[in-house]
Amino acid sequence: MDRAEYIRDEYAAEVIAGHYKRQPYAFIRNFGCQQNVNDSERMRGVLEDLGYQMVDAPEEADLILFNTCAVREHAEQRVYGNLGALKSLKQQKPGLLLGLCGCMAVEKTTIEKLRASYPYVDMVLGTNPAHQLPAALVEKMTTRKKALRLPAVRGDVVEEVPLVRHSAFRAFVPIMYGCDNFCSYCIVPYVRGRERSRMPADVLAEVTQLVEAGYKEITLLGQNVNSYGKGTGEKVDFSDLLAMLCAIPGDFKIRFMTSHPKDATRKMIDTIAKYPQLCSHLHLPVQSGSNEILARMNRRYTAEDYLGLINYAKSCCPEMTFSSDVMVGYPGETEEDFEKTVALVREVGFTQLFTFIYSKRPGTQAAEQPDNTGHRDKAGRIHRLQVLQEEMVAQIATPWVGQTFTGLVEDAGRAEGTMQARLDNNMLVEFAADEALLGRIVPVKITAVKGAMLEGEHAK
Ligand code: SAH
Ligand code: SF4
Ligand code: F3S
Repeated sequence: MDRAEYIRDEYAAEVIAGHYKRQPYAFIRNFGCQQNVNDSERMRGVLEDLGYQMVDAPEEADLILFNTCAVREHAEQRVYGNLGALKSLKQQKPGLLLGLCGCMAVEKTTIEKLRASYPYVDMVLGTNPAHQLPAALVEKMTTRKKALRLPAVRGDVVEEVPLVRHSAFRAFVPIMYGCDNFCSYCIVPYVRGRERSRMPADVLAEVTQLVEAGYKEITLLGQNVNSYGKGTGEKVDFSDLLAMLCAIPGDFKIRFMTSHPKDATRKMIDTIAKYPQLCSHLHLPVQSGSNEILARMNRRYTAEDYLGLINYAKSCCPEMTFSSDVMVGYPGETEEDFEKTVALVREVGFTQLFTFIYSKRPGTQAAEQPDNTGHRDKAGRIHRLQVLQEEMVAQIATPWVGQTFTGLVEDAGRAEGTMQARLDNNMLVEFAADEALLGRIVPVKITAVKGAMLEGEHAK
């Protein structure tokens, strides 16, 4: 692993100041997962450091950056739709710079499509866009190159990149980048490159700084957090890292995602059970309940392995909740395979289930497999899972009515005069409260279960 440190590019700041000769404005739109949100925070940090001021409307910006996602076709279509809508703005404002970055920006198909249909995109950056920005902007401003495409830098870990966080009390902290799993359907390893972990000392320093600054919830990010530590040269695995972070003094909670069932260990479950700072919730994507499908997905565990781990967690930590990702309509999935997924969902009892219809990603192994299931059947399967999930969450959460939990107040509620708090177990509860509670950890008594949301009252 190569560890690099970001250094402020004075020359870039000068070129940008000379180019605009006034305050320049920038707009970033995020289309992806938490990793992408975190990359956008860094992009914002670098841009502000270079003299830009952020704006909320693309019409006011001199620089527009789209941070994209490639995980499903639908995510890409949204980006193209939004790019199309910028064509007239680009014509009205000749100096406007338009950049595409993130996971889509690395795909060959995207480059072809941009060339053919969106030639007005000025820059294409990769999945490490923040520290590439200074050089990209200088090149754009000092040469006449039309569409600038920077090579995707995939192998490095760059520390000390300035960032502006999206919240003053919840923070994302990446602990690793990339993915080596190559699940047959998934584009991520191709666009985010090989797995590499940050040094434990860098993670510890960042989390310590956040806790000292008053952050209440830290979410550790990685595509496969359970294989944390490989290549750092230190004997710190994911569970050790969690324990190190729990030794930081202060009133804060730690979450993490995503765990991979083939690498998640009993040691990790024991660690969660031991430290009160670790939230009693585990997001463990299962994808399917059929061993045949799991094998063809290259997931490298069976439904029995998965249930074994969940049952171990339930026995050590009875209050722990579970969430998962499930995919329907993988090439060749039969009704019988799907029934096995339904049975697994019923057996585990997830509090949250993210359901997806398989989407073919060019370049992946599954894209070569014949897909004979019709869209109606796939839509029927996902609907059945969603109906079952509603039943399950009601079953799990109804016994909580009357109990008091603590939760971090993270947002305004849907109804006037209410706020939403996230409980330790990752469930959201809405309750009558004043905005002044935002960012505080408060006790809430559960009064009702409304679909995936709980209702409660502030317990004083
Ligand atoms: N690294 C994480 C997941 C990242 S992608 C993990 O392994 O769990 C988030 C979810 O998107 C996946 O869990 C999967 O359910 C879904 N997904 C990924 N590729 C997909 C595809 N080609 N079609 C449909 N859903 C997909
Ligand atoms: Fe994709 Fe699998 Fe890696 Fe998750 S573990 S990012 S699903 S390849
Ligand atoms: Fe995230 Fe989408 Fe990339 S899910 S890793 S932004 S493909």
